[in-house]
Amino acid sequence: MKKIVCMLLAGVFLLPAAACARPVEPDLSAYHTSGEATIPMEILGELDEATVTDLTEEPKYVALTFDDGPRADTTTRLLDGLLERGAAATFFVIGEQVPGNAGLLRRMRAEGHQIGNHTYSHVRLLKTDKDTVVEEIHKTEVLLKELVGEGSFWLRPPYGLIGSERAKLIKTPMIYWSVDPQDWKLLNKDKVVSAVLEAVQPGDVILLHDFYSTSVDAALEIIDCLQAEGYDFVTVEELFRIQGVEAQAGVLYARPDKVREVS
Ligand code: NI
Repeated sequence: MKKIVCMLLAGVFLLPAAACARPVEPDLSAYHTSGEATIPMEILGELDEATVTDLTEEPKYVALTFDDGPRADTTTRLLDGLLERGAAATFFVIGEQVPGNAGLLRRMRAEGHQIGNHTYSHVRLLKTDKDTVVEEIHKTEVLLKELVGEGSFWLRPPYGLIGSERAKLIKTPMIYWSVDPQDWKLLNKDKVVSAVLEAVQPGDVILLHDFYSTSVDAALEIIDCLQAEGYDFVTVEELFRIQGVEAQAGVLYARPDKVREVS
């Protein structure tokens, strides 16, 4: 018995440090006071402008977005993890996935997450006739309104694709992304976490899929790592509000400050 306890304890102490690998920056936390920079001149001289700004600015905001759900097991676990961490997210749901998962949609709304539209059957809008485009979006919107009430359900076109002609049919803003770790392809928590942490900047919109268990694990670790760096996780809508950008219907945004061309 003693041996087992010792082994367990050894296991606890031998655990690797949390995988929050980020480019190494000088530790200036002792000099950081909110609002005012109190960085000694000898250190200030060695820093570039971006670092100084970073040290003196308000909290950093980022938006996690999840496509292709809801899915009973993975989305439930994700919502539990978000709640535990006080993090908000945006869910671009597929209409077909909604029946049987109504409770998850209501929970998203009740817990302050944004719900968006990812079409009814995950069609490639670029190659679909215009009537079907409208129907695919409308059917999901009707379902969502029945479940969570009125609201503007922003669109994420499947695969991020929509031509300029079809974009004119869209009555809400459209959201692309600015960080894509290709979680659906990697299916590996550590690789997804690294890909996001290497790329992420304040104001980014991160693309993940709550359909995969590895992506849920990665999302929760990403939140832990970035919250430790002072990041706040907000919905896409909130990110626009914070940046003072009014999202326009029919426009595809990679982030609030970056429009993505549709051709
Ligand atoms: Ni999708």
